Amino acid sequence: MARHSNGYTALQLSLHWLIVLLVLFQLIFGEDMGRYNYYVRSGQDVAPLLTGYYLHIGVGLVILALTLFRLGLRLTVGVPSSVPGPALQVKAGEALHYLFYVLLIVTPITGLLAQYVNMRTFGEVHAANKPVFIVFILVHAAAALYHHFVLKDSTLRRMMVPGTH
Ligand code: HEM
Ligand code: HEM
Repeated sequence: MARHSNGYTALQLSLHWLIVLLVLFQLIFGEDMGRYNYYVRSGQDVAPLLTGYYLHIGVGLVILALTLFRLGLRLTVGVPSSVPGPALQVKAGEALHYLFYVLLIVTPITGLLAQYVNMRTFGEVHAANKPVFIVFILVHAAAALYHHFVLKDSTLRRMMVPGTH
């Protein structure tokens, strides 16, 4: 994958922050999906939960599509080289970014498999992604703030301002 020193493009930054908002929405309101399926199984009226049901599936599919698009950009436009630092710190940061991509793809796919193929198996895997996401986000956000306020480097700034490296 191309690594350069031109910073992220405005499109890459918009995608990062838009996906952040959409993932937070899914994590906060995801349990409505479990409730919807429980209501269906127990024969209760699902009408009040229908909007949440369609939103969860719709937003989940949008996250999947935007993530694939973003990966495509990474492969074509490239991403800036990591801000210099101790080798372990740089490697850990890059590894977490890859794991985020895996999670952003695996979560919607297991959601689809849970809803349309086998709820018992895939529902569990899908729901288990929630705490993993939360831990990743906390570590990732804490690292970003550490870079900004303690190391005082450009890591967070270049995720806000296009072309910063
Ligand atoms: C990145 C995208 C997604 C995220 C972050 C996400 C997140 C969540 C969360 C947090 C829950 C609640 C788990 C719990 O009750 O503890 C949930 C449940 C569920 N989601 Fe998603 N979801 C995503 C995409 C999708 C998609 C595309 C579908 C497709 C139909 C889907 C189907 C479901 C189903 C069926 C449940 C209920 C599972 C169960 O009751 O065991 N999700 N999701
Ligand atoms: C759902 C939440 C989040 C996800 C899934 C996520 C995902 C990612 C990914 C995959 C990258 C790698 C760069 C790329 O390929 O575009 C990245 C970079 C970055 N993220 Fe996040 N992020 C999230 C939340 C946050 C938050 C809350 C902050 C700030 C407090 C943040 C700050 C950063 C910064 C500063 C970088 C740039 C790191 C670098 O260039 O070395 N992210 N993020």
